Amino acid sequence: MSHKTIVLTGCTRGLGRALLHAWDSMGHTVFGCGRNAEKVEALRAQVGDRHRISAVDIADEAQVKNWSEAVIDAAGSPDFLVNNAAVVHRPAPFWETPQEEIDKLFHVNVLGTSRVLKAFLPGMIQRGTGMIVNLSSGAGRSGIGGLAAYASTKWAIEGLSKSVAEELPKGIGIVPLSPGMVDTDMLRFCYGTTAGNYRNPRLWAQAAAAYILSLTPEHNGRSVSTP
Ligand SMILES: NC(=O)c1ccc[n+]([C@@H]2O[C@H](COP(=O)([O-])OP(=O)(O)OC[C@H]3O[C@@H](n4cnc5c(N)ncnc54)[C@H](OP(=O)(O)O)[C@@H]3O)[C@@H](O)[C@H]2O)c1
Repeated sequence: MSHKTIVLTGCTRGLGRALLHAWDSMGHTVFGCGRNAEKVEALRAQVGDRHRISAVDIADEAQVKNWSEAVIDAAGSPDFLVNNAAVVHRPAPFWETPQEEIDKLFHVNVLGTSRVLKAFLPGMIQRGTGMIVNLSSGAGRSGIGGLAAYASTKWAIEGLSKSVAEELPKGIGIVPLSPGMVDTDMLRFCYGTTAGNYRNPRLWAQAAAAYILSLTPEHNGRSVSTP
């Protein structure tokens, strides 16, 4: 496969970090971000100079603008934009989930993802090629008691992706992608120690990294899942 430039949000932990390492070993270049500056520094020290990892909060309009402009200045519009960063809330009935947590979830998962999409999409359209992959969830395709607010944000990601898909010119595609259940901080936060029964992120990424790069505009608007 030819060299790809990939913008990846939320690459400091979990699925994002596993994807970064997998794409590194495949020879691709990642422009990644995470909120936590210390984790970003540690990751920079681990991965080679080929990648550029930045501290960016996707919920912050100015940070997303500065970051996207710097990425586009350095490398042009990416081949792939992978909107992976998201947060979850502690499982509870919806009426007992604090409103601040619900607000935060929508700010990051829906509005943050939308900001990143709006920051990169015009350049990708101008370039005429590219794929956008928005991390969804099984929780974005059916109801999930205890995680109603999180599930609502993932249904929003499915709806946003499928609607934008109808607006895109030929040559560009956008899909919502469900990763299955993988043992990350997010899953442990939700389900505690039982997360040990789920897939290892490194093994998940071995298949998922190649699968994501196999997506083409022919998949535009489809709900897809990693193998
Ligand atoms: N794990 C699963 O089984 C599973 C299942 C279904 C869907 N998903 C989806 O897969 C994606 C990755 O999940 P995960 O399990 O890897 O989660 P995770 O372990 O909690 O990692 C989340 C990543 O997102 C970053 N992030 C969070 N908020 C951010 C913000 N405002 N700005 C920038 N970066 C931010 C975190 O960076 P910092 O450390 O710097 O905050 C971290 O790198 C999410 O979209 C999730 O909804 C996961």
